[in-house]
Parts: sequence; C-alpha cells; structure tokens
Amino acid sequence: MDADVRSAPLIPPAPKVHPRQLGGSFVGELRIALEMSRNLMGAWCEEDFDNLFTPYVFMGQPGMVVSDPAAARRILSSPNYVRPVKAARSVRPIAGDGLLLSEGETWRRQRKSLAPVFTPMAVEGLLPHFVAAGASLAEALSGHARADLSEAFHHATLDAVLSALFSRRADAQGDQLAYMVRRYMEGPAHFNLMDFVSRGADDLTFLDVERRRQGAAWFQAVEHLIAQRQAHPHAEARDLLDRLLAARDEDGAPLSNQEIRDQCGTMLVAGFETTSRLLFWATYLLALDPATQDRLRAEVLAAPAAAVRTLDDLQAWPLMRSVLFETLRLYPTAPLLAREAIGPDTVMGHAVVPGQIITISPWLIHRHRKLWDAPTAFVPDRFIDQPHPWGIEAFLPFGAGPRVCIGASFALAEAQIVLASLLERFEIGLVSDRPVIPIASITLGPDHAPAFTLTPVS
Ligand code: HEM
Repeated sequence: MDADVRSAPLIPPAPKVHPRQLGGSFVGELRIALEMSRNLMGAWCEEDFDNLFTPYVFMGQPGMVVSDPAAARRILSSPNYVRPVKAARSVRPIAGDGLLLSEGETWRRQRKSLAPVFTPMAVEGLLPHFVAAGASLAEALSGHARADLSEAFHHATLDAVLSALFSRRADAQGDQLAYMVRRYMEGPAHFNLMDFVSRGADDLTFLDVERRRQGAAWFQAVEHLIAQRQAHPHAEARDLLDRLLAARDEDGAPLSNQEIRDQCGTMLVAGFETTSRLLFWATYLLALDPATQDRLRAEVLAAPAAAVRTLDDLQAWPLMRSVLFETLRLYPTAPLLAREAIGPDTVMGHAVVPGQIITISPWLIHRHRKLWDAPTAFVPDRFIDQPHPWGIEAFLPFGAGPRVCIGASFALAEAQIVLASLLERFEIGLVSDRPVIPIASITLGPDHAPAFTLTPVS
C-alpha cells in the first residue's frame, strides 16, 4: 500500500454488524430479519468482506451470497435468473409494472421503446437541464451558512428529472413528489417480517397498509402530471412522456394509461432518488477530505459547469468522474441486487435449484478485502487512469448484463454538473463530526441528515 492510500481519510464505520446465526435458531433468524428491516446492510458480518461465496438457509429458504465478480456478472447476464418475485412487494406500490419489475417479452419491448431516451446523443440533449438544475441549486443555497444538502439534492435531482423527462421545473407539485418518494424510502420501502416469511409477491400484502396507502397517493400524483400533459400536448415529441403517449404496439394500439403511469412512476423513482443519494455521499466524503475538495474545485473552476454543452466537455473533469466513481464504490446507492433462479445451475461449484435466491451486493463487493486495496478508504485517484471503470470486474454500481441501469450516463452527467455547480460557489464542511451511517432499504441513504457548512468561494 503506498503512502497516499495509507494517509487517505477513513470513511465512517460500517453499519452495525452482528454474528452470523443463519440456519441456526429461530431467535437468531428473527434478530437478523429485524435488523434487515431496519437496515438491509445490517445482515453482513465481518467475514462477508473476506468470503467470495456464502451459502445459507434463511427462514427455510436456501440462498447464496455471491461476491466473486466473475460469477456475479455471469448471474446478472444469464437468462436463468430473474428479479426475485418477492422484490416486487416493496417496489411495485411505487413503480407498478414499469421497466424495473417487468420480465420476459414485456421487459424486452419496454426496454427497446425506452432506450432512445437514454442514448449518449439523447443525454447530450439533456445537459442544459442539468446545468439549469445545478445553477438553481447553487442560487437557492447562496446566503446560507448552513444547509441540509440531503434535502437540497433531492429537490435538485427531481428538478433535473422533471425537466429532462417531463419538460417541467420542480415547483410545489414537484416538491410534493420528492417528499412522497423520500417518505416511502424511509418507511414502507424497508423490508418487513411479512416479506421474509412470504413466498410470493402477493402473499399477505393486504397487511401492507402503508405501502398501499402511500403507493396510491403516489400514483395519483403521477396521473395528475400525465393528465396535465394530455390537456396541453406538445406539438412534437420532445421528452419521455411525449414518447410514451405516442408509442404504438405492433397492432398500432397506444399504451394503456396504466402502462404510461407505471413507466413514468418508475423513471421518477429510479431517476432522482439514486442520483440524489450519490450527490449526498460524494459531498459528505469531500467534506471529510478538504484536500481532495480543493483539487476538485480547482478543476471545475478551470472549466465551469455553465459552459458544458457536450458530453466531451465533461472530459475536462477527470477528478470529478473519479470522485463519483469512488463514491459509488464506497456507497453504492443500489447496494443489493438479488436474483431468483428459474432453472437449475451451478455457481462456483455449488448446485443452484429453481427458486433459489442469489444475493449480489455491490456494498460487499466494493468493500471486499480480496478485491480492493484499502477497501474502506476514500481514494478517488484509484479511478483516475480508468476512464471506463466498467471494465473493472469488481465495480458494478449500475449492475451488469441486459438489465444494467438504463439511466447510468444520465445520472453521471447530471451528478457531475450539479456537484460542479455547487463546488464552484462554496467550500463545503460539516457542522458536526458525528459519523453518518448508511441505512439501506431499496437505496442507500444516511441515518440522519447532517448539517453542512457553506462558505462562499472568494
Ligand atoms: C447514481 C444513480 C443510479 C444508480 C446507482 C442506479 C443503479 C441501478 C442498478 C444497480 C440497476 C440494476 C438493478 C438490478 O440489476 O437489479 C438499475 C436499474 C435501473 N435504473 Fe438505475 N441507477 C441510477 C440512476 C438512474 C436514473 C437517473 C434512471 C432514470 C432516469 C434510472 C433508471 C433505472 C431503470 C428504469 C432500471 C431498470 C432497468 C431494467 O431492468 O431494464 N437509474 N439502476
């Protein structure tokens, strides 16, 4: 390990872990289930950061944790594995049957029709929206010596998604949408005991009153957004919603209202919560590491965000990209990718039976002691000579295979521009040295929203 790595600031402690008691007593399993419903990352033990493969039996169901990068990528790319039926329990209430949860032919058709919205050329066309969202954020924060940046990033990323995909700015209605998603992620998105004991997507869901209630309110708000567009359609297609409204199937029939609603809900949920968390963790790490923050500020001041016109312009910020990749390594905003086998297979010499759950955790893989040097240190420079870190087997913040995140370049372009807009204007610090502990439901958020100090850059 070289001197730089040794002197790099250590990230705050991992969430509380407890001894593995899987396959053992009922009380042990119950403790783990309760811990996971509070924090999905709470199930890992110390040895999970050393093991590449761990078989287990939990609540009577066999499963395996696969942290070997090659095996994990093979599983994510194989048609023998689907998103677990049970994953729908917490996601469907706000994502419906959109791209996140669809499977088979329906998924293929949906992915094909949405892909044009996320091509590099399309994302380039969205850059002015990201520049505007970054400028509004910096403006809104000016004059404030302290801020809850977690909240501010939520608003800014919603603003970017709303304007890029729905041609509207975040107003009071937008704030309401952001509030609904946050409340869901911090509440009913967390696993509950029924999720562990049930076998199917719909078993006992009548007991999930809060998921149903919040999900219904969410879809009502999304339907309202769509109805406003239907009342005032654009002359020609210019955003995701226009594209969905204009889409026709092979028989020339339009998409059903429910499909349009579910796709919009999915993109809103997947599109801003994740990027907002990425911005939060990046800012947190930069506040803990003022030297890297200063280097990054020098980089963005030399090529300001307002001047970004093309994706090539982002090449002027190699450290910015590295900071974001390193943040996604340490705090993967989608920390758990689960798959269910639909047929028999062999993984790392072990038989897989249909119905078996395979857990692939970017959180574990990205902090794995056999896969990374100084795995818990914040060392953005490890990515500096890696313009395409997707080539690194042990790095999968956006998943892998055909279901890799459709919005990855959208998210990265947006995060770079928004973070640059902020660093150009402010030096960012933390009011308190209380560590922020990552808590995972569907995404990885902070256990509390720390206050950040903002000092205007002279
Ligand atoms: C930092 C930001 C983001 C991260 C870390 C992230 C991460 C991921 C991951 C890991 C997956 C794969 C899940 C799996 O295989 O089970 C995924 C899928 C997906 N993401 Fe993202 N995402 C981000 C931003 C976005 C944005 C901005 C959008 C849309 C505007 C988006 C839309 C989606 C959708 C629709 C899927 C499902 C794709 C499919 O199944 O075909 N994501 N994301």
